[in-house]
Amino acid sequence: MNYEILQLPKIEDVRGNISVIEKDILPYPIKRVYYLYDIPSNAHRGGHAHIELQQCLIALSGSFDVVLDNGNERKSVHLNKPDKGLIIPSGVWRELENFSSGAVCLVIASKEYDESDYIRDFDAFLKYTNQRE
Ligand code: TYD
Repeated sequence: MNYEILQLPKIEDVRGNISVIEKDILPYPIKRVYYLYDIPSNAHRGGHAHIELQQCLIALSGSFDVVLDNGNERKSVHLNKPDKGLIIPSGVWRELENFSSGAVCLVIASKEYDESDYIRDFDAFLKYTNQRE
């Protein structure tokens, strides 16, 4: 499974820590930043893949699981640290679940929002991955 966990720089201080994303720490230039919040504990988000979009997910607060599927393999990644970024490459199905109370998921994306970049049907995603191979 071709995801990556990025260790973000962490400036530790008794007054509180700072993590920073700058220069070429991400594998792409940043085009969009958004965040999920006020998420009910039983909510499922995601449930799609992207044709080109790459994303970095960070649990700014609380925790959640990201289930990744590349068409051959499925893996669950638990995010619970604001200094860890999960890089999801293009062509990977993702589902977000098990949100803790107060969880905030920051998403740093390589492209602006474009519905035509989404694959929202899992069978269509499997066909897409088979065609790519
Ligand atoms: P979606 O990406 O499916 O949410 P998630 O994967 O986090 O569950 O987006 C949900 C809705 O919000 C969908 O109708 C599109 C809209 N949306 C935008 O308009 N702009 C954006 O940048 C994002 C991320 C979503």
